[in-house]
Amino acid sequence: PVSVYEDEHIASKKVAARIANIITSKQKAGENAVLGLATGATPVEVYAELIRLHKEEGLSFQNVITFNLDEYYPMQPDAKQSYVRFMDEQLFNHIDIKRENIHIPDGTLKKEDIADYCLAYEQKISAVGGLDLQVLGIGRTGHIGFNEPGSAPNSGTRLVTLDDLTRRDASRDFGGKENVPTKAITMGIGTIFKAREIILMAWSKKKAPIIKKAVEGEISGSVPATYLQLSESVEFILDKDAASELT
Ligand code: F6R
Repeated sequence: PVSVYEDEHIASKKVAARIANIITSKQKAGENAVLGLATGATPVEVYAELIRLHKEEGLSFQNVITFNLDEYYPMQPDAKQSYVRFMDEQLFNHIDIKRENIHIPDGTLKKEDIADYCLAYEQKISAVGGLDLQVLGIGRTGHIGFNEPGSAPNSGTRLVTLDDLTRRDASRDFGGKENVPTKAITMGIGTIFKAREIILMAWSKKKAPIIKKAVEGEISGSVPATYLQLSESVEFILDKDAASELT
């Protein structure tokens, strides 16, 4: 289903409330909540609202286990553009999550260790019972995570090559496209599909053309987000601008 909200502020609060709901209902059952998280501009207000819920309304993250979608490769965790740093600054440093419950693909691995690491990442997700919810943004290439055009629907966590458009879109963060890593480690489309619920968020006119393709276009590896049309547990949460080209 597709839900369209007046603006990204209202939509972000809705998503945060849904996440909080999963956390508290799992808490009551004495269980962990396992969340798949995204970086980038899109989820920033969701994380801000979760911090507010923690600080002002007593939402605890003690029973939360997180797995981030992706990380650039190579990438040092303390670098300005690292997703480790992003998650610390935007969320983790401000809530009571246990550090050992945080998982973000490691951008410092030796090339020869990546394949084993990626398998272990998948196994860790399964070992804690799988993802209760996966939060996604969408890139202008149609990527989810860093699953660029050409990604297979059953792909797992792996090292990928970033699309040129993705590197151009990231160039501001890196002070030029030439400084953007050419590779990343990302959960696969198959990994994402195993989540019990998937929320894809998109805001602004800039995302309208790719949202039209993702929601209404032919299902194809050339726009990886179209695979989500095959999922019964996905919800597209959009602001009016991102939804403006939908029929
Ligand atoms: C980030 C990720 C990417 C972004 C996408 C949109 O962890 O997996 O798929 O969600 O590139 O980025 P923003 O939100 O910056 O437009």
